[in-house]
Amino acid sequence: MASGELVTGLLEHALSAACAASLRAAVNLGLPEALGDEPTTVDDLATAVGADAASLRRLLRALTSYDVFAENDAGRFVHTENSLALREDSPNSLKYLVLWCTEPWLWPLWAHLDESVRAGGEVFTAVHGRKFYEHLHAEWPESAKVFDRAMTQQTTVSAMTIADMLPMSGSEKIADVGGGQGIVLATLLERHPGLTGVLLDLPDVVANADARLRPGGELADRVRLVGGDCLEEIPAEADVYLFKNILGIDEDTSVLILRNAMRAAPPGARMVVVDNFVDDGPGQRLTSAMDLRMLLVMGGRKHSREGLLKLVERAGLTVHDVRPVDSNLHMIEATLPA
Ligand SMILES: C[S@@+](CC[C@H](N)C(=O)[O-])C[C@H]1O[C@@H](n2cnc3c(N)ncnc32)[C@H](O)[C@@H]1O
Repeated sequence: MASGELVTGLLEHALSAACAASLRAAVNLGLPEALGDEPTTVDDLATAVGADAASLRRLLRALTSYDVFAENDAGRFVHTENSLALREDSPNSLKYLVLWCTEPWLWPLWAHLDESVRAGGEVFTAVHGRKFYEHLHAEWPESAKVFDRAMTQQTTVSAMTIADMLPMSGSEKIADVGGGQGIVLATLLERHPGLTGVLLDLPDVVANADARLRPGGELADRVRLVGGDCLEEIPAEADVYLFKNILGIDEDTSVLILRNAMRAAPPGARMVVVDNFVDDGPGQRLTSAMDLRMLLVMGGRKHSREGLLKLVERAGLTVHDVRPVDSNLHMIEATLPA
């Protein structure tokens, strides 16, 4: 017979959607912003966010069990590091990342995971009639904005370290391929006044690039914003190419992206891949969850260390170094043979 501990553990996993939903509800209700520096009662919070106090009490009980908010001895609520990170105005806010991980359209797709696994590919196209990025930009512009902000918030955490790890002496131009809103590029351009850059991403994404890179921004005269499709062409000749979190697709397509850059690059160009390894990180729960989401939505994947290195070599690049950026990310440095 199953022990009580086993039942509890397994049920907690089976009901883990409640955790994701509670985080999303907290953000949507504006709870992280409603709670200030002073310990606050449920009733006052309920008034501030316009919620039913008894139900909000239940939501807060769930959230505190995940260390999102805490309850003091007087039964008042205070912030924790986690709840502070959900505030829009936190310097390292993760609000949009939490929204992106819990977007409403994602929930029904999870129900098809067994089909995805059986078929070895995505189910998004069968459900929505179009591939993910195409559908996202055509039908869900608000969700597309959440995605772009989420990527920027995720990358803000590592942008400084990536810049520290990429010496630019002797390099004049860097191309950030699938660079999102350009947070890494902006960080590098600020740090190296002689450097110029190219930000390549889908047209809607570069249109909302970091304000420093857009026309009128302080770095605008040193950057070219290219709205395009890196599966078709990478129209940028540069000394350094950055591919951060954009090779999470099938192997042939990843090789195609690298080769498109290689076609534009001069011999000896540096090719830098920054990504998560599914088998080397803080724990398998996060990377394997991201990996399954990518399978389901795009037929993509989080590569293993060996898999990503093989892929870079298969494209025809010479790998020189693999280093951790932080507990989540690794940097692969390669060059285009002369
Ligand atoms: C996971 S995000 C990573 C963004 C950024 N490199 C970062 O790490 O913050 C993947 C990026 O690839 C872009 N992308 C997807 N398909 C693309 C394509 N065919 N051509 C250019 N960019 C593409 C997306 O718009 C998105 O910004």
